[in-house]
Amino acid sequence: RIVASSEVEQTYIMIKPDGVQRGLVGEIISRFEKKGFLLKGLKLFQCPKDLAQEHYKDLKERPFFPNLIDYITSGPVVCMAWEGDGVVASARKLIGATNPLQAEPGTIRGDLAVQTGRNVVHGSDSPDNGKREIEGELAQWESVQTPWLIE
Ligand code: PPS
Repeated sequence: RIVASSEVEQTYIMIKPDGVQRGLVGEIISRFEKKGFLLKGLKLFQCPKDLAQEHYKDLKERPFFPNLIDYITSGPVVCMAWEGDGVVASARKLIGATNPLQAEPGTIRGDLAVQTGRNVVHGSDSPDNGKREIEGELAQWESVQTPWLIE
């Protein structure tokens, strides 16, 4: 389980089934790594229907809700916890607008997607939701990078 000290901001990033099927996992992870955020946990996960409904419960009255649940449960997703100052808002900028046709070039959706219903990645919209969404068993990676560069 990921346990963050209260002052460290974390966000939950999920590569959706289209991102996994299209072979975009490395590309998407790379964007967060290059930006300078810290990967704190990662798992490949087939999301069951009831958890998808819980994750998107605020949207259950929306007309697209059944399609959204079918889409998210249609194949494995990659769930990640990323950490850093301002990571929630910055990750949303890196991801780009919900509708990929409105997302700026240079963003993940702006570069890699065309439809809202296949927009390749999810990012938490607030630190509280980040905490709520980071759940279950995620592999930990400690932030000790120097030994890999300098003996
Ligand atoms: S809204 O309308 O402002 O509440 O929507 P938004 O916050 O932009 O999006 C909430 C999530 O719903 C997804 N979404 C859709 N999925 C499928 N079809 C349609 N038409 C659609 N519209 C919105 C959107 O991608 C958001 O999911 P996440 O996982 O956060 O990207």
